[in-house]
Amino acid sequence: MHKLLVTGGAGFIGANFVHYWLTQHPQDRLVVLDALTYAGNMTSLAGCLEQENFRFVHGDIGDQSLVETLLLEDGLDTVVNFAAESHVDRSIHGPDPFVTTNVVGTHSLLKAAKKVWLDGTLAGRPHRFHHVSTDEVYGSLAPEESPFTETTPYAPNSPYSASKAASDHLVRAYHHTYGLEVTTSNCSNNYGPYQFPEKLIPLIILNILEAKQLPIYGDGLNIRDWLYVDDHCRGIDLVLQKGRAGEVYNIGGNNEWRNIEIVQLVCTLVDEKLAASDTLRQRFPRSPVCLGHKAESLITYVKDRPGHDRRYAINAEKSRNELGYAPLESFETGIRKTIDWYLLNEAWWRGVMNGSYRDWLEKQYAH
Ligand code: NAD
Ligand code: DAU
Repeated sequence: MHKLLVTGGAGFIGANFVHYWLTQHPQDRLVVLDALTYAGNMTSLAGCLEQENFRFVHGDIGDQSLVETLLLEDGLDTVVNFAAESHVDRSIHGPDPFVTTNVVGTHSLLKAAKKVWLDGTLAGRPHRFHHVSTDEVYGSLAPEESPFTETTPYAPNSPYSASKAASDHLVRAYHHTYGLEVTTSNCSNNYGPYQFPEKLIPLIILNILEAKQLPIYGDGLNIRDWLYVDDHCRGIDLVLQKGRAGEVYNIGGNNEWRNIEIVQLVCTLVDEKLAASDTLRQRFPRSPVCLGHKAESLITYVKDRPGHDRRYAINAEKSRNELGYAPLESFETGIRKTIDWYLLNEAWWRGVMNGSYRDWLEKQYAH
């Protein structure tokens, strides 16, 4: 039996991880620590709060004494650190919180883990500090370049990826210098339920339903390697079970798509869904298909993201060979499941799209 501290567990991947873990490891205890920023939502944890082996704590990973207390009081042996500012566009407009949470916050977590697990009363007990990172730390690939491996030199290009790279280095240093039992996973773009609708796929789905423009940055030919979020969660589970301390594992979907192709695919699938259902057409009467148009008619090319990375792709051979990792969800099934989830969970996305998010988005496209 393990006792986990899941930071950022009310966010997109964190919440999926919590649901995954409670199903796969019902004997374990989970404590979620989340600051509930705009990206964190208690409704994403519906159904967990009533479970005896689950506890939610509203707090900041930068609060070292709180984290120490949680590790001690609950006798926790594992940290899985999802907590972060995660949106590249926001990091361009306002990098400060990215440094505060991703760098200083992660360092604070490391200090708490060191104090309790290495220097304190729990010293000598088995432990694991798992840090969830991103493929963006490796920079941008040219079309002919091979996918990122764990030894690809770091070359972060946005304030977001630079802050994640800094946190990865701190995690590595706490292993090398102090012997903290750490692992890091670097994953490609996730999609699936509970993703905040500022990220490409949910933004496109919801904008189609509400007949808003589908903004394509630049020429739309940037490439991302998409992974269904449950496959990321399983990858982290495998790293926790079989990963070697001090090691880094890449997790990816072997599933590269140009942005414009993703948007066109989502348009086609949402059109099909609405065309086949009177109920959906009644619920979303402004959607183009209800007026005899295609969703693609909403596609609008907009000014490019500054410093926009051209291509990401992950080589997950090490995870496959050492951990037995392979994605289970195909993109064909995963994207349909995701669209169905957003169609079924209107209350969730209306709830998270509050005024501050709308204001921020409107400023984005003011140009
Ligand atoms: P998210 O933005 O949806 O969620 C982040 C969560 O962290 C939110 O619940 C937020 O409230 C919480 N949080 C933020 N600052 C905090 C703080 N100081 N203390 C405690 N909680 C805080 O992010 P996500 O997309 O779920 O990403 C989770 C992690 O996975 C991040 O570290 C991100 O870098 C990494 N990652 C994301 C992707 C992706 O495609 N989304 C891919 C690879 C890696
Ligand atoms: O690669 C992993 C990373 O994936 C994670 O570390 C980040 O936390 C996560 O946000 C994601 O970063 P991206 O910048 O790749 O994701 P995003 O959904 O913001 O954008 C995907 C691509 O789509 C990117 O090339 C920018 C483009 N885009 C995005 C938005 C929001 C558009 O063309 N239009 C848009 O409106």
